[in-house]
Amino acid sequence: MIFKQHFVFILYSLCASVFKGGQGQFPITQNVTVVEGGSANMTCRVDYNDNTSLQWSNPAQQTLFFGDKKALRDNRIELIRASSQELTIKIGDVSLSDDGLYTCSLFTMPVKTTKAFLTVLGVPSRPEITGFTKPAMEGDIITLTCSTLGSKPAANIRWFRNDKEVQGSKELNATGKSFTVRSSLQFQVDKGEDGVAYTCSVEHVSLSNLYTTTEVLEVHYAPRLEISKPQIDPLEGQYFKLECVSIGNPIPEPVLWSKDGGELPDIERMIVEGRELTITTLNKTDNGTYRCEASNHLGTSTAEYKLFVYDPNALGQHGPDHALIGGVVAVVVFITLCLIIVLGRYLARHKGTYLTHEAKGAEDAPDADTAIINAEGNHVHAEEKKEYFI
Ligand SMILES: *[C@@H]1O[C@H](CO)[C@@H](O)[C@H](O)[C@H]1NC(C)=O
Ligand SMILES: *[C@@H]1O[C@H](CO)[C@@H](O)[C@H](O)[C@H]1NC(C)=O
Ligand SMILES: *[C@@H]1O[C@H](CO)[C@@H](O)[C@H](O)[C@H]1NC(C)=O
Ligand SMILES: *[C@@H]1O[C@H](CO)[C@@H](O)[C@H](O)[C@H]1NC(C)=O
Ligand SMILES: *[C@@H]1O[C@H](CO)[C@@H](O)[C@H](O)[C@H]1NC(C)=O
Ligand SMILES: *[C@@H]1O[C@H](CO)[C@@H](O)[C@H](O)[C@H]1NC(C)=O
Repeated sequence: MIFKQHFVFILYSLCASVFKGGQGQFPITQNVTVVEGGSANMTCRVDYNDNTSLQWSNPAQQTLFFGDKKALRDNRIELIRASSQELTIKIGDVSLSDDGLYTCSLFTMPVKTTKAFLTVLGVPSRPEITGFTKPAMEGDIITLTCSTLGSKPAANIRWFRNDKEVQGSKELNATGKSFTVRSSLQFQVDKGEDGVAYTCSVEHVSLSNLYTTTEVLEVHYAPRLEISKPQIDPLEGQYFKLECVSIGNPIPEPVLWSKDGGELPDIERMIVEGRELTITTLNKTDNGTYRCEASNHLGTSTAEYKLFVYDPNALGQHGPDHALIGGVVAVVVFITLCLIIVLGRYLARHKGTYLTHEAKGAEDAPDADTAIINAEGNHVHAEEKKEYFI
């Protein structure tokens, strides 16, 4: 019992001597990262402390708190905890100007200090796309610029053309403690750019989701016309339709139809509906060149179709290819038949000759063996004859 008390006393004096010498007393802090507008707790700890005071000061070396005593008039800064082992203060509504190196001091002899970074993240503004005047004209060179302000560290801008990433140029400017980030895309617009969506997206450590802005291009371009080819050959008496396919922005309307440079001759049979020309019953007199024409403020375009009306009764004229193929097939069939007949006749005759010779050899022979030999010999002759015959 006495021994135990003695031991505790020794331990206590040992520790006390360590504290008095100031050894082992060291303030410990941690870096803090906060998004602007948020609040940051700055904590400073001392594991073994006698009643020595702790102090927090800001990057400008102004004392914020000395122990539990507030030193700077700033109602954003409040005390969370003050004890011999900890001094924690809270900075509310943090702004980029609060960013910097904070100092915790322990007033031993000599004073011991530790520094902690308060990193304030600047939230980028929603991106804005500029440089596009709606609508653009085909052939114009345009520069789309996406910009975002106030990011710290600098935000990253990416461009997408209809969801496919494209590379833009990049430009950074420091404005105070934050950055203005710009990215530009320059290109010549053609009709293929009409209706294309360009999206600018901003990525930043302070954002949990991307910020995006999209600009859909509108490009005006001159009309381009084309007459779609009818599926069937025009036959007299048939119903016939031509469609004038037109593209252009603004849409080139109306589509005007003409025949051989003049007005459509027969309003009753020729009906124009929008881009379509319908001839209810084709007549040979409808032969000619049909043209459609349309304009917008950027120009005029035309397309032509040469109509040749076939007479369904004179099929010789129509589809000479079919007649030719028919003729060729007939000739081929005829030749094949002839060959089969000639070959058949020849084979029949040759078989007859062979049998006759064999029979002869067999007749002259005294016995069966000789008959076979004779027959073979005659067979050779027959072979020779056959070759000769060919
Ligand atoms: C605090 O941040 C500074 C600067 O970013 C860095 O040099 C230092 O190592 C950090 N300290 C700790 C304890 O993370
Ligand atoms: C700061 O400390 C207070 C008290 O412990 C706590 O309620 C608050 O959530 C802390 N704030 C941050 C940003 O850590
Ligand atoms: C610290 O101060 C308190 C009163 O302010 C006192 O009771 C305590 O004994 C002191 N501690 C040391 C280690 O000096
Ligand atoms: C950056 O600053 C320079 C000089 O002040 C200025 O000419 C340039 O336009 C600025 N760029 C951006 C992206 O703000
Ligand atoms: C074609 O037109 C002529 C003259 O307009 C008319 O006499 C003839 O009957 C028409 N033919 C057919 C097949 O409609
Ligand atoms: C149709 O037009 C062609 C050429 O334009 C011409 O040779 C032919 O005689 C015309 N047929 C009729 C029936 O008018």
